Amino acid sequence: MSAISKFLLADSQIPSAWINVLPSLPEPMSPPLHPATNAPLTPEDLLPIFPMELIEQEFSPKPMIDIPGEVMDVYRIWRATPLYRARRLEKALDTPAHIYYKYEGTSPAGSHKPNTAVAQAYYNKRAGIKRLATETGAGQWGSALSLACQMFGLECTVYMVRISYDQKPYRRMLMHTWGGEVYPSPSDHTNSGRAVLAATPDSPGSLGIAISEAVEDAATHADTNYALGSVLNHVMLHQTVIGQEARLQMEMAGEEPDVVIGCFGGGSNFGGIALPYLEDRLKGKGPRLLAVEPAACPSLTKGEFAYDFGDTAKLTPLIKMFTLGHDFVPPGIHAGGLRYHGASPLLSHLLNLGHIEAKAFPQLPCFQAAVQFARTEGILPAPESSHAICGAVNEAILAREEGKSKVILFCLSGHGNFDLASYDNYLSGKLQDYEYPGPEMD
Ligand SMILES: Cc1ncc(COP(=O)(O)O)c(C=O)c1O
Repeated sequence: MSAISKFLLADSQIPSAWINVLPSLPEPMSPPLHPATNAPLTPEDLLPIFPMELIEQEFSPKPMIDIPGEVMDVYRIWRATPLYRARRLEKALDTPAHIYYKYEGTSPAGSHKPNTAVAQAYYNKRAGIKRLATETGAGQWGSALSLACQMFGLECTVYMVRISYDQKPYRRMLMHTWGGEVYPSPSDHTNSGRAVLAATPDSPGSLGIAISEAVEDAATHADTNYALGSVLNHVMLHQTVIGQEARLQMEMAGEEPDVVIGCFGGGSNFGGIALPYLEDRLKGKGPRLLAVEPAACPSLTKGEFAYDFGDTAKLTPLIKMFTLGHDFVPPGIHAGGLRYHGASPLLSHLLNLGHIEAKAFPQLPCFQAAVQFARTEGILPAPESSHAICGAVNEAILAREEGKSKVILFCLSGHGNFDLASYDNYLSGKLQDYEYPGPEMD
């Protein structure tokens, strides 16, 4: 085994098509339903908020979809992203496991989110749209979309979850720098925001509330569409560049992963690294696919697999997913991007069929794993990504206890350079764990 720790690809090895797993599913997914009639959704129903090319991708039967040249031109700014072997972390854990991580924090916005933001901005520009409205949790998605809109000459309005707006002012400044307009959510700019403020003036906000505001903004302005940074099939599709590159890089390393891990908010970085391995998995030979979510917002491990709204104000279609209920407002954990009541319907379907696994960890062990990672590998992880690290560390410790070697691959979805206040709180002992309130939820 060579001592190489970094695996890089040439520009010519950046994937030229996205992988669409919809046609390979062993059973079809339950269709999304119209929020007013409960009838299966038609592509036309989505036209007020999405461009047709993205709607087609949402339901596409094609196994591969070519990445347009204009999108490739922007991807080439930072793709392919590096794959690292975490030798120093392995040593610190005294584990026989080999740990690899695919680092998506090298994008200008600092996470995997631009992989889909760029594609979405491109298709909206082609459809003649002038402005995109969106929500953001941690601010990672809002900054990715602000950047992407800037690249394609679109305006961008971001409804930022109140608690993150207060905790992460630098993300807001980044969005402003890239030309985005940012409102704390709940805001008084929309009916749904005003309704939440009237009932709970000091609401910390949630992704569900911010989605309602952005969807309402898009639906009430003809020149404006909505963009979602996770959950939907077309977002999972765009993120498959991560796993496709990782597969090539694992080949360069001469290893096959036994387990592939991603943190889970709505599912896009996990889907991005895991879905390119699904076909193998379905043939019974692929790695385990493990999603890691926060114990304070455990949609996959404690939620119900049921039809629910994607937002608080019930403006979105009903989708069948693992959900804690559309009116659940998660505690203000520092992984703002994981504070979502629902989950990707595609990944929910695969979890329900037993093709993926899920685990939940509280924020304190996640921060502990993130600090250990920063002290060994050097990179400061986003609080969201710390959940994937915690999952990987757990697997590595299990390997040590069982005396078994194991190859672990995880997605380090972003850096935490704008999350220093969260690290400061953790290091000074001010952070606490929150228990999921459980039955109160019903
Ligand atoms: C760095 C990072 N990782 C993960 C997530 C969670 O989203 P997803 O589950 O769609 O990857 C977010 C969301 O904001 C994020 O910013």
